Amino acid sequence: MSEDWTLRCVRCEAGYPALELRYTCTCGGTLDVEHRAPDITLAQLDARLASKDPLDRSGVWRFRELILPLAREHIVTMPEGNTNLYDLPPVADWLGLDRLQLKHEGENPTGSFKDRGMTTGTSVAKRLGMTEVACASTGNTSASMAAYAARAGLRPYVFIPEGKIAYGKLSQALAYGARTVQIAGDFDAAMALVQDVCRREGIYLLNSVNPFRIEGQKAIGFEILQDLDWQVPDWIVLPGGNLGNNSALSKGLMELLALGLIDRLPRIAVIQAAGANPLYTAWTEGGDVVPVRGAKTRATAIQIGDPISWRKSLRGLRASHGTVEQVTDGEILDAKARLDRSGVGAEPASCATVAGLKKLVVAGVVKRDEHVVGILTGHLLKDPDIVVGYHKNTLDGIDPAYPNRPVSSESELEAVLEAMRG
Ligand SMILES: Cc1ncc(COP(=O)(O)O)c(C=O)c1O
Ligand SMILES: [Zn+2]
Repeated sequence: MSEDWTLRCVRCEAGYPALELRYTCTCGGTLDVEHRAPDITLAQLDARLASKDPLDRSGVWRFRELILPLAREHIVTMPEGNTNLYDLPPVADWLGLDRLQLKHEGENPTGSFKDRGMTTGTSVAKRLGMTEVACASTGNTSASMAAYAARAGLRPYVFIPEGKIAYGKLSQALAYGARTVQIAGDFDAAMALVQDVCRREGIYLLNSVNPFRIEGQKAIGFEILQDLDWQVPDWIVLPGGNLGNNSALSKGLMELLALGLIDRLPRIAVIQAAGANPLYTAWTEGGDVVPVRGAKTRATAIQIGDPISWRKSLRGLRASHGTVEQVTDGEILDAKARLDRSGVGAEPASCATVAGLKKLVVAGVVKRDEHVVGILTGHLLKDPDIVVGYHKNTLDGIDPAYPNRPVSSESELEAVLEAMRG
């Protein structure tokens, strides 16, 4: 593996051997995995859709030449990916779009897109002979890492901001057996601590600062294009927190373009919560990303003020002539209610995609007749508390536009009919 890849700093371009245990450059910049041009055609990738090989059945490893050419014995897979791309006419109508499709990454094995990065991250951990893995998390990373570590026989440690992650995710980390340390602080504090812990204790860090996580997450874009017969949509829209996922998407697409496998890039739109919006501020005001202290949003998955992958994110946005939008919690939750009601629901952070699209269409940035693919990053059941709170109208500061209040009834036929129809 070392001869096929180099780790390259996105800031100063210094290079390091792929097998060196490091996550950032000595200059502090994040690292890219740089590949030798792989020998693969779109027809070969498409042929794998009919294969029964477990690697071909994974929506990540099906693209292995474009991800990481690891030996089979090291690969830890569930298998992940193969998530659906939905036409949702009620949502498209609400947004004022003629050609909207939503890719549901909540259909991954642990209910979020993080599984795509964890299959690569834990596989590299095994390749490197690591025995312990760790991450800081707003919830989904820890759920995913705990599951993949359990599959791989690695010992997982997760660091979460106490009281600031949704219960579905906390319960997964506990259930899959991670040693779960609740930090009295926010995600950004937990992220700083886990880097110190990993350095001190020789534990393998599996946050998206790890460049191999990013390689796996590139497959979201590959799968979208494969489902579209390699026809490039006008836009791909997704939420941004630590900014690893949009960085992965754009890196993968830029690599396909460089290989001549596609002929143009889609424009990428990253949507942030208004209370956790450092990328939005940098994009609209110019300059580097400056951390937001005390980031706050009910979309806890993206409650991140000091995003690690901001340089990679800006690089991809510039290359794709993309954009960044911000949305309030009220806008996120109303968009979520509209989406959920279509029968294909998602967790709050995912619904930033829909809320942001609404604003971009109203502003005329995204045009009615453009082909738009939105990414729903996590499953509706990750955060049931917020769903019930919204529909019962018990969330402070939120005035739900589309509540569906439960009604109570005596245990008697006439009363039940009255409750049903009333
Ligand atoms: C459901 C969900 N959506 C979006 C994000 C943001 O992704 P990133 O941190 O890669 O920007 C996360 C990250 O935790 C997430 O869990
Ligand atoms: Zn550097």
